[in-house]
Amino acid sequence: MPDPKGGQEGLRHRRGGGPASPLPQGPGGGGGHGGGGLQGGRTATREAGPAGLRPDPQELRRSLPLRQGEPQALRALDSPGEAPVRARIRQDQGWGGGRRGREEGDPIPLRAGGGAKGVHPRSDTGLPGEGEGGQPGVLRGLEALQGGPRGEGRGGEGGRALSARRPPVREGDLLELRAERLNSLGDAVCRLDGFVVFVPLLLPGERARIRIGQVKRDYASGRVEELLEASPSRTRPPCPFFGRCGGCQLQHASYGHQLLLKGQMLKEAFCRIGKLELGEEVEVVPSGRELGYRNKLASPVAPRGRLGLYARRSHRLVEVDDCLIQEGAVRRCFSLLRGKARGSGIYGYDERSHAGDLRHAVIVGSERTGQSMLVLVTLELTEGIRALIEEVKREISPTSLWVNLNRQRGNVILGDEFLHAWGDREILEELGPFRFRRGPASFFQVNVQVAEELFSFAERRVAGSRRVLELYCGLGSMTAFLARSSGFVVGVEEVGEAVGLARANAADNGIDNVDFVEARAEDALELLERGFDSVVLDPPRGGPSPEVLKAIGESSASRVVYVSCNPSTLARDSSRLIEMGFELVELKAFDMFPQTAHVEAAALFER
Ligand SMILES: C[S@@+](CC[C@H](N)C(=O)[O-])C[C@H]1O[C@@H](n2cnc3c(N)ncnc32)[C@H](O)[C@@H]1O
Repeated sequence: MPDPKGGQEGLRHRRGGGPASPLPQGPGGGGGHGGGGLQGGRTATREAGPAGLRPDPQELRRSLPLRQGEPQALRALDSPGEAPVRARIRQDQGWGGGRRGREEGDPIPLRAGGGAKGVHPRSDTGLPGEGEGGQPGVLRGLEALQGGPRGEGRGGEGGRALSARRPPVREGDLLELRAERLNSLGDAVCRLDGFVVFVPLLLPGERARIRIGQVKRDYASGRVEELLEASPSRTRPPCPFFGRCGGCQLQHASYGHQLLLKGQMLKEAFCRIGKLELGEEVEVVPSGRELGYRNKLASPVAPRGRLGLYARRSHRLVEVDDCLIQEGAVRRCFSLLRGKARGSGIYGYDERSHAGDLRHAVIVGSERTGQSMLVLVTLELTEGIRALIEEVKREISPTSLWVNLNRQRGNVILGDEFLHAWGDREILEELGPFRFRRGPASFFQVNVQVAEELFSFAERRVAGSRRVLELYCGLGSMTAFLARSSGFVVGVEEVGEAVGLARANAADNGIDNVDFVEARAEDALELLERGFDSVVLDPPRGGPSPEVLKAIGESSASRVVYVSCNPSTLARDSSRLIEMGFELVELKAFDMFPQTAHVEAAALFER
C-alpha cells in the first residue's frame, strides 16, 4: 500500500524498536516548549497557508535573540570610500564542473593496449587513451565517511584481520579483477581476497586487467589497462575530455544506469555508515536534461591565461574548450572568455609560487531569464585585469560583472572581498512561479529543473505545518516553496549577502509569511526551543554540526526534512536522528548532477 504522503513503507526505520509514531498533527498541532514569543496569531493572507494560524511576523522578530543583519551594500569597483563586502564563503559542490571541494580522482594514466581481447578504444569505452601522466591519488578528508578507501577496508569482508596482514598486491602488479559496485567518488570497488582496489572508469560487473598504483595498508588504487568484459550499460561518453577532466565521473554509463547506480550508492551509504538497512530500492528522480543542465562553472586559470578544469584529484589544469554539462549561456561566456584571456597577456595563477593575476573565472547563467554573471577572481586588481574587464564589457557583455579579490594561498576559489565592476549587481533566475535574485557570494542550486522537484518535495512533506524552521536557507529559494504550504517559515543562513537577497526575494515574490536570520545555525539553536513543528535543513557537504542535530532532536519538531548533497553525512545523521526518536519515513534521490557521481537526496523523518 503506498503511503498516503508518498512515503515508502519499506523505509520505516526506528532504533530501539517500539511502534511507529502517529503521523504528525496538522496545522496548529505542533505544540512546543517555551514558545511564548511566537504565539501571536494573525489572519493569513496567502491562500495556501493555514488561515489564522500564522504568528505575527513582528512578534516573531521581537522574540528572536539574534541581531538582524541588513542587506549589505556591495562596494563598487572604483569607490574606495566604501567598505568592501566581506562575505564568508562556503565552497560547495556548486562551484564549477571541476573540483567540488572534496576528493576527486587523479588523472587516469591509462596506457591503452596490451592484447587484442576486450574493449578498449576510448571512444567506445570511456577509458582515456595514452599519455595522461599523473600520480595515484591520495584520499583524505571525509574519506572514512565518503566510502573512501579506509572506510571500505575496515567495513569490508577483510576488515581488521585484513589490515593486520600485508597487502596482497604491490605497486605495478597487473591483475584481473571484477568491479562489485561504485564508491561515493564513482570509483569501482574491486576485491582481491577481500582486499579493496579502487578503480576509476569501471562499472559494476565489468572485468578488467588492472594495473595497481598506490598501495596502502587497507586498500590500493588501480587503473584499467584492458577492459575484458564490458557492462551492457557502458556507453560512449559524449565529452571528448571525459577521463582526463575531473568534472564528470560517470559519462561512460548510460543515463538510466547512472540513476540506478546513484540509488545503490545512497543505499550503500545508509547501510555502511548509518547501519540502516533500507528495505527497497531508493527512487532517483531523473534530471530532465542529461547534459546542458548546469548553471555555474568555475574555471581555474593557469599560467598563460589558459582556462579549463582540474584533472581528477589534482590541481593540474586540463585545458578544455567546452563543457557539455553546462547550460548554453555559460558555455557561450566560457568560450568567449577563453579567447580573451589567452590573447590578453593576463597571467593565470600559479598555486606554488602564489603569483599571477587571474585565478578563477566563475560564470553563472540563467537560460530562463537570459541573464549571466561573471566573477573574475584575482590576486590583485592589476592593470591587466582592468584591461580584461574593459574587453569583457565590450565583447562579452554579461548582465553582471564582478571582481573577487582572493589573496589567500591555496585553491579556495573565492576570497572575502567582492568589487562590483559593471552592469547589474544581481541576476535573476526562475524556479516554479518564483523569480530569485542571485548574487556573486550566495549559493544557488546548479540544476534549476531538479531544484524545483526537490523544493516541491520538501514543501509537500512539511505542508500544513504551523511553523517551519529552515536551517541553511541560502537566498531563500526553497523558503519560497515551503512558505506556500506552511503557516510561517524562519530561514537561518550565515552568509550576509544571501540573507539580504532572501529578504528581497521574499518581498519581490509577495511572500509575507517568512523571516530570515543572519547567523550560523550553531548560534541560532535557541530558535529550536520556540515551538517549530517542522525543521528543514540543507547543510553543506559536511552536514550540520553535532550540536545542531542534538538541538533538533531536543526540539518540539515532529517532522524533519533533511536535504543533502552528501550521502555519507546524510546516512550518519539519519542514524543519529533515529536514535533521538525519529523514524525515517521516506528517502529519495534527485539527480541534480547528471554525468557525475554526486548524489543529492532528501529524507523525511517523523515522530
Ligand atoms: C547547500 S546550501 C543550501 C541553500 C539553500 N537551501 C538552497 O537550496 O539554495 C547550504 C547553505 O548553508 C549556508 N551555511 C553553511 N554553513 C552554515 C552554518 N554553519 N550556518 C548557517 N548557514 C550555513 C551556506 O552559505 C549555504 O547557503
